[in-house]
Amino acid sequence: MNSPWKGKAKATNQDYDDLRPTITYRHLLSNNLGVRDPLRVIALCDSDAFYAACERVRLELDPSVPLVVQQWESLIAVSYPAREFGISRMDKIKDAKKKCPNLLAVHVATYKEGEKEPGYWKDVDTRTHKVSLDLYRRESNKIINMIKEALPTGEVEKASIDEAFIDFTRPVKEKLLERYPHLAKVPANAPNGTDSPLPPPPPIHWDDLGAVLLPERVDNAGEQSNVEVDGGPTWHDVALSIAAELMQKIREDIHSKLGYTTSAGIARNKFLAKLCASYKKPNSQTILRNEAIPDYLHPLAFQKIRFLGGKLGDALAKEYDVSTVGDLLTVSLDEIQSKFGENALWVYEFLRGIDRTEVKEKSALFKSMLASKNLPKPITQPSDGHQWIRVLAAELALRLNDARESMPTLWPKTIVLHARKGYETSRSKQATFPYVRNVTVDVIATAADKLWKELTGDAKTVNITSIQLAFTGLEMAEMGQKSIEGFFTTRDIQQQTSLKRSREEDEPLVSPENTDLFLPKSSDVEAVSFECTRCRKTIALREGQATGGPNEVAQRLATLRSEHGDFHFAQDLANSNDESVPVPRGSSSKRKKLEPKGIAKFFIRK
Ligand code: CTP
Ligand code: CA
Ligand code: CA
Repeated sequence: MNSPWKGKAKATNQDYDDLRPTITYRHLLSNNLGVRDPLRVIALCDSDAFYAACERVRLELDPSVPLVVQQWESLIAVSYPAREFGISRMDKIKDAKKKCPNLLAVHVATYKEGEKEPGYWKDVDTRTHKVSLDLYRRESNKIINMIKEALPTGEVEKASIDEAFIDFTRPVKEKLLERYPHLAKVPANAPNGTDSPLPPPPPIHWDDLGAVLLPERVDNAGEQSNVEVDGGPTWHDVALSIAAELMQKIREDIHSKLGYTTSAGIARNKFLAKLCASYKKPNSQTILRNEAIPDYLHPLAFQKIRFLGGKLGDALAKEYDVSTVGDLLTVSLDEIQSKFGENALWVYEFLRGIDRTEVKEKSALFKSMLASKNLPKPITQPSDGHQWIRVLAAELALRLNDARESMPTLWPKTIVLHARKGYETSRSKQATFPYVRNVTVDVIATAADKLWKELTGDAKTVNITSIQLAFTGLEMAEMGQKSIEGFFTTRDIQQQTSLKRSREEDEPLVSPENTDLFLPKSSDVEAVSFECTRCRKTIALREGQATGGPNEVAQRLATLRSEHGDFHFAQDLANSNDESVPVPRGSSSKRKKLEPKGIAKFFIRK
C-alpha cells in the first residue's frame, strides 16, 4: 500500500487532549488506578558517570579529580571533570591522556587465574584476565536499596546497572493528603460525590526543585522563551512538585551517604521520565510538566529516542522523509499500523507522550547468572580450558554468594558451559548443579571441568574463541521455616554423598532435584530399583548389575537415578521456553525459528 502523501503537515495540540486532566476525589483517594491514573508521577534516576564514580568513591578521591575507567585500551566511563578536557567514551586511553596529562586512569577490576576475588592488578592483559563489574553491581544495589527504603509505598524498578524507575504516585498521594487533609473527605455539597473535581490547586513553589520544563513560545521577534502555562498549575503539577521534593531528598541522601551524584527526570510516565533525565547533567533533576510535553517532544529527532533508534527509526525516516517527532504526528494510526504492524500503536502513542508501561520491580530472582570471556587467543589444547574455567568459576562464586547474602536459600538448578568457535559454531553442555552449602570456586570449577571434558571429548586439538559459564534455573527454596539443610534427612545426604563420584571436602553433594524426584525406599541400601515420582515408572538395574556388595549396587543405582533424572531434566528443558540464557547463534538448539511479524522484525539483529 502506498501512501498518497509524505507527512510534513503541521501537527496540532489536538493530539494532546489529556494534558490538563480533571482530578477528582476518587482519583486522589484511589490507589489502584494503575497506568491511567491522572495523578501518575514517574521518575528515572540515573547515576552520573557511574563506573568512574564507583572508582572515585572506592579510592576516596576528591570529586574534582579527572578520572576515567579503562577496560584494556578503551574507556568505559569518564568523570565529569575529565569531560571538561574534551574526553569522551569514544577516546582511546592514549588520546585521553594527551588531552589531560593529569588524568587518572583506573583499570576496571579483573579476575585472574587462581584468585578468588577480582582485583586491581599491575599488569592486566586480556589474554590472562577477565573484567569484573562486581563493584559496580554492589554499589548499584546500595543505591537501589536506599531508594526502596525511602519509599515504602513506591514502586522501584531497576532499569540498568545505574538507573531505576520510581513510581511516585502513591507516596505523592500520601503527601497530598498529609498536607491538605481536608481533601480526604468529599464535601457534602460536592455535585457528583466522589467524582467531583478537587478544589483549585494551591500555588506551587518550583524553586530548588530542579529544572522545570515549560512550553516554549516564539515571540514576535522570533525569540524562543518559556511561558507560564495558560490555565495556571494543575493538581498534576502539584503531584510533580511533591515527587520532585521527594526525589531531591533521596538524591541528597544517596550523595551524602554513598558519595554518588545522580540525575533524575520526573514526568507523567516512564518514557518521558527517561527522556528528560539527561536534560541537565550531572547532579540535577528535570521536571516535565504535562503542558510542556508537546513543545518538548516536537523538535526531538525521533531517531535519538532509544526505542526509535535503529532499524525502526531508519524505516520511519525513509518512509516519510522526516526527522523530528513533530513531523511524524501527521501520520495516522491506521497508516502506521498498516505499515509496521498492529503493535505500532506504541510508536504512535510514544510520539504523543503516552506510555502505558508499568513501573514494576522485576522479580528479585534473576533466573540466571552468566560469566563469559571472549578469548583474545583461541584455545587450541583442550587442557588449556581449565585456567579460564577457574576464572569464570570465581566470578560465578562471588556473584552467587553475594546474592545469597540476601537470599540464603538461593541455588542454581543447572550449570551450563558454552564454548564457541568464532561466530559460526557453538556447543554447550549442562548438568544438574549439586546443592552445596558453600559454593566455592572449586565446587563450580569441578562441575565445569567435567562439562569441559564432555564438550571437548577425545579431540586432540580444539579452536575455541569464547567461553561462557552460567548458572540457570536459580531459585529460592520455598520451605517455610525449614532450612535447606534440614530439608534433607541425614540419611538422604549420606546416601547421595556416597553415591557421587566427585566430593568436595565434607560438603554434602546433594542434588535437590533428585531428592525431590525419587522418594527413597525404606530398604534403600539393598534396593535394586526405584520408582520415579514423575513418570511413576520403576527403574531397575539390569540383572548382572545387581550383584556385588551393597555399596557397589547402591552406586550403580545412583548412576541410574541420576541418568534418569537427566532424562527428565533434558525433557523439561526442551519443553521450556526459558530464554534466560541466550543461546548463541549456530548452537545446536533445534528450536524452530518463526519469522517475526510487523514491528518485531525491526528488532531482529541480522
Ligand atoms: N557503560 C558501558 N558501556 C556502554 C554504556 C555504558 O560500559 N556502552 C557503563 C559505563 O561505564 C557507565 C555505566 O555503564 O558508567 C552507565 O552508563 P551511562 O548511564 O550511559 O553513562 P555514565 O557513565 O553513567 O554517564 P552519564 O553521567 O552520562 O550517565
Ligand atoms: Ca549514568
Ligand atoms: Ca544509565
